[in-house]
Amino acid sequence: MKVIGFNGSAKKRGNTACSLNTVFAQLEKAGIETEMIHVGKEKIQGCIACHGCVKNQDEACTLKDDPVNEWIQKMKAADGILLGSPVHFSGVAGTMKSFLDRAFFVSSVNGGLFRHKVGAAVAAVRRSGGIPTVNSLNHYITYSEMIMPSSNYWNVAHGLTPGEMEQDGEGKQILEVLGQNMAWIMRVIEHGKEQFPAPGPVAKTMTNFIR
Ligand SMILES: Cc1cc2nc3c(=O)[nH]c(=O)nc-3n(C[C@H](O)[C@H](O)[C@H](O)COP(=O)(O)O)c2cc1C
Repeated sequence: MKVIGFNGSAKKRGNTACSLNTVFAQLEKAGIETEMIHVGKEKIQGCIACHGCVKNQDEACTLKDDPVNEWIQKMKAADGILLGSPVHFSGVAGTMKSFLDRAFFVSSVNGGLFRHKVGAAVAAVRRSGGIPTVNSLNHYITYSEMIMPSSNYWNVAHGLTPGEMEQDGEGKQILEVLGQNMAWIMRVIEHGKEQFPAPGPVAKTMTNFIR
């Protein structure tokens, strides 16, 4: 089994990367392969709402000049997905949000590419804004019929300078518990899915509250 993690920071060894690595260490202990992708320094345009991905049905965004389509396929191939973002103005970092909007829209309108994968989110923050950031990241996971493990607190680690979150003992433990719970639910699903087949997808009912 494999988990792919996305580091929304421009720093490859910053607090978001350290937070993802803390979860990864627990997954690896359980024999689960991990891979981290660094998002923050890429040039990623936001969704232009062209709906080309709805029309084309090719599991791809029509904007082709960045790695988003490659990452969509990596997520499709993985068993678990970890989303990590630094807190920027109490929210998800901009480049990360551009990537997630496009990738999860493509997934949604192409039959639910990430359905029933295990997914979790973490945020790195100096002081305030961790909770709204994790909540925003969780929206992608819960929109997609993914299975979300939790921890013994909300998945936020504190630090300013790169690596400072290593001194946040409580934050470290939260992420370790998250990693253990994620590994456990992934193994349970892997061993039980033949005996208990997953429910099939439903055609979405769309009501826009005006008709
Ligand atoms: C543009 C920008 C906005 C930030 N906004 C916040 C904020 O709203 N609240 C906060 O506590 N820290 C804020 N920070 C600090 C970062 O969240 C913190 O340093 C975090 O550990 C960075 O993670 P990284 O090392 O993975 O980049 C901000 C940093 C930057 C660069």
